[in-house]
Amino acid sequence: MKTIRTTRAIRRETKAARASGHPVVLVPTMGCLHGGHLSLIRRARQLAGANGTVVVSLFVNKTQFEPSEDFASYPRSLRRDTALCREAGADLLFAPSDAAIYADGHSTFVVESRLAKRMEGASRPTHFRGVTTVVAKLFNLVQPGAAVFGAKDWQQAAVIRQMTVDLDFPIRIVVAPTVRERDGLAMSSRNAYLSPAEREQATVLHEVIGTARLAVKSATAPLPAAALRRRLMRLVDKQRLAKLDYIEFFDPKTLEPAKRVARGTHLALAVFFGSTRLIDNGRL
Ligand code: PAF
Repeated sequence: MKTIRTTRAIRRETKAARASGHPVVLVPTMGCLHGGHLSLIRRARQLAGANGTVVVSLFVNKTQFEPSEDFASYPRSLRRDTALCREAGADLLFAPSDAAIYADGHSTFVVESRLAKRMEGASRPTHFRGVTTVVAKLFNLVQPGAAVFGAKDWQQAAVIRQMTVDLDFPIRIVVAPTVRERDGLAMSSRNAYLSPAEREQATVLHEVIGTARLAVKSATAPLPAAALRRRLMRLVDKQRLAKLDYIEFFDPKTLEPAKRVARGTHLALAVFFGSTRLIDNGRL
């Protein structure tokens, strides 16, 4: 596996990889890799095949952090990440500096203006603008045939898919399942911020999805979203250290809010533990 630091070198390497005629598959990450990322890299390996090229990008993208968020303290671990990428089957690790991606005077952003507005977008107004900007730049630099994203960031995947269609990127967007800890907590780099007591209570996100699933399964007709939300909110409220940001029910493809909840409706939620904000989602 080669580590690449400059945009010129990643262009050169991926151009040569494409010229070989074998697939090039990109896995964009912000590093601090965990089992969830490794499953994305393994999925990319499958898609690329033995002769294709798996490119993992590792870049803590400042434009997707709100001013009040943890950009400065976001965990960075290049040495460990390099070893993990190699083990998981990456061929190229693209780890550019901030200046390589955002040169002085950078003033162009890519904005998806419909799907990006609700849920995460409502709580973090500039977040998706940063995500779509950096992902569009990575798509231009690497020009992969496919890119793999995690289902844990369901809305992010939908926003990126829309951007890919709208901007005519000839790239297949592949969404790989969420990887969970044994107790159901979705793997996330931010789980490392949790105190032991917060970590214990953080399973409530998974519990909310499970409870909603059960409610839908045992109902004989679609359930009113408002009543189900109130019931689920009580579960979060019971956890002393948890503070709910949102619980939303929506169509998994269009992200349109659902007034009635039935099988196939999607649920997403965000919960604060102190300043750590965790998200999760699932199909009901
Ligand atoms: O999901 C992430 O880790 C980031 O949002 C991404 C897609 C790598 C863009 O910085």
